[in-house]
Amino acid sequence: METVTLAERPELVDKLWKFPGTWSTFMLQDRTSDLYYDTCVRLFPEFVMLALDGDRAVARSFCVPLAWDGDPASGLPAEGWDWAIRQGVQTRLTGDEPTLVSALEITVQVDQRGKGLSRLMLDAMRSNVAALGFSELVAPVRPNGKPAYPDESMESYLKRTTDGLPDDPWLRVHVRAGGTIVNVAPLSMHISGTLEQWREWTGLPFDTRGPIEVPDALVPVLCEPEHGYATYVEPNVWVLHRVGDQPRARSAKGRRSVGD
Ligand SMILES: CC(C)(COP(=O)(O)OP(=O)(O)OC[C@H]1O[C@@H](n2cnc3c(N)ncnc32)[C@H](O)[C@@H]1OP(=O)(O)O)[C@@H](O)C(=O)NCCC(=O)NCCS
Repeated sequence: METVTLAERPELVDKLWKFPGTWSTFMLQDRTSDLYYDTCVRLFPEFVMLALDGDRAVARSFCVPLAWDGDPASGLPAEGWDWAIRQGVQTRLTGDEPTLVSALEITVQVDQRGKGLSRLMLDAMRSNVAALGFSELVAPVRPNGKPAYPDESMESYLKRTTDGLPDDPWLRVHVRAGGTIVNVAPLSMHISGTLEQWREWTGLPFDTRGPIEVPDALVPVLCEPEHGYATYVEPNVWVLHRVGDQPRARSAKGRRSVGD
């Protein structure tokens, strides 16, 4: 098994997009995501990684460098994943010096799951971020066991621990790798659509007002039939990984308070 960045192996770009069945259709509809995924190959290739088993890409990871003047250990923004993408792209547009890196995704091919590849990919991501000169990697983590408890608050879900480790499998991987849970990002992803779109994405009727449980969603989707739309706001959990000794100087730009 070998891990490489897209900057090192640009010819592997097609493999990056061949991860069938990894995400539920509705999870691919956060409009902020286009800002990153449509540009990352050109703008951030050194932050995009693949794990190769021979010729096959068995896992991939995406990160974005960003300028932020906050202290990640004291709290990270409520808008989590969407914020990281916007802040990263804005940082690139303004030319500000990035101060830290945010993870955005680690995905393992469906037939390769349950073999410990996620830890390998996370370790490779941590090493890559350190090698690029950063000391802090933050991650708006999507706890993959949360869909079993859609009505439970994320704060309460985080209290499910055993021997000091999260019961949630994906959060546990982060904590075992050296990450520290900082705070919940209650507004991490936003997915809105017409009722027709939600029916197409999920196969569910979307004909009653109020919360609707959707498989793989971390919390219920809120349906407003009389207004013709439904919306999903996904909470994630900020995790901080210290990957080096020397924090970069905090940027005076990219200023944004926690909770904005
Ligand atoms: C989340 C994901 C990356 C985990 O990758 P993986 O390589 O299959 O996970 P691992 O084999 O490293 O296992 C990680 C932990 O989850 C546990 N686990 C694995 N499969 C599991 C399952 N089906 N049910 C419950 N726990 C499971 C493992 O036991 C391990 O915990 P442990 O170390 O305490 O034993 C992978 O499932 C995936 O790509 N999912 C879709 C994308 C996604 O949700 N990514 C994360 C958000 S960006």
